[in-house]
Amino acid sequence: MSSQDIPEENLPAEQDAHGEVGVADDKDPFADPGLPPHEHRIQDIDERAAKRSERAVAFLFTVSMLATVGFIASYVAIDTDKSVYIFPLGHISALNFALGMTLGVSLFCIGAGAVHWARTLMSDVEVAEERHAVQSPPEVKAKVLADFADGAKESAIGRRKLVRNTMFGALALFPLSGVVLLRDLGPLPGTKLRHTLWSKGKLLVNMNTNEPLRPSDVAVGSLTFCKPEGLEEHDHDFQTEIAKAALMIVRIQPDNIKDKRELEWSHEGIVAYSKICTHVGCPISLYEQQTHHALCPCHQSTFDLSDGARVIFGPAGHALPQLRIGVNDEGYLEALGDFEEPVGPAFWERG
Ligand code: FES
Repeated sequence: MSSQDIPEENLPAEQDAHGEVGVADDKDPFADPGLPPHEHRIQDIDERAAKRSERAVAFLFTVSMLATVGFIASYVAIDTDKSVYIFPLGHISALNFALGMTLGVSLFCIGAGAVHWARTLMSDVEVAEERHAVQSPPEVKAKVLADFADGAKESAIGRRKLVRNTMFGALALFPLSGVVLLRDLGPLPGTKLRHTLWSKGKLLVNMNTNEPLRPSDVAVGSLTFCKPEGLEEHDHDFQTEIAKAALMIVRIQPDNIKDKRELEWSHEGIVAYSKICTHVGCPISLYEQQTHHALCPCHQSTFDLSDGARVIFGPAGHALPQLRIGVNDEGYLEALGDFEEPVGPAFWERG
């Protein structure tokens, strides 16, 4: 339906379009052709159509609010490991998919609602404005303020309370999406850095064979890497836990062990030390059996495993933590507790 189909008496009063219509001539080949005849929108002449548009705008803002709530709910409820099959993308993270979809819908609906509002309900007056100097004189500034007040009035923000309230709701709720992302900064580590998976009775499992170790499996001069019983490579937090619990086992003739506590915490000369270098946390991987020196390949810190793993060379700040070990009733090597000090770099000692 166009304004030509509406009886003359039902049309809104004709609005003036400002600006002069020019005539093209030799002096001014690009004269202003003026504005075409004004076409009234259906919403200007039919209040029911205007109501329909109002409901459509409110619907879009409401969908935006629901999508924002969905974003927050997805962030809280969906596990980071969960995946979904989406054609044609294949298997993708369910959490990323849900966050992307809800955030996209939320933003789209705010934009679509604002555009629909402007196109169907805000004032539909054509205005021609003459060009003026860049710097605005005081009277122009006053006019801008007056126009702004007129614009606010014509947008019907005061009259269309449903649109106004749902828009405020959508705009107020949307920033919450960013607020909940602050959760990624936490949680606080608590005492997690001070403890590892080792505890009394945990068997020492060979990292290569995945079998528990017996004392007879450890030859003099050999270097064996161990993990705590129950920690498997496919575990979700394997990398986090092994970064703290990785252990190296060497066997030294008991007579050659100089440190008294080291001897007490060993079993028949088998000693267990943290594999994590106390400089900046590289895994120690080299062992010299004649000197009992363990070497970190990153910056060459060297530890004497026959003397409490004290640092004899390099930038490491302190000795490697030792794990107290023994043998259980079935003859397997087991831990007799956790490390008594934090493993790895000693940043917590400075506070
Ligand atoms: S990390 Fe081991 S010496 Fe630097």
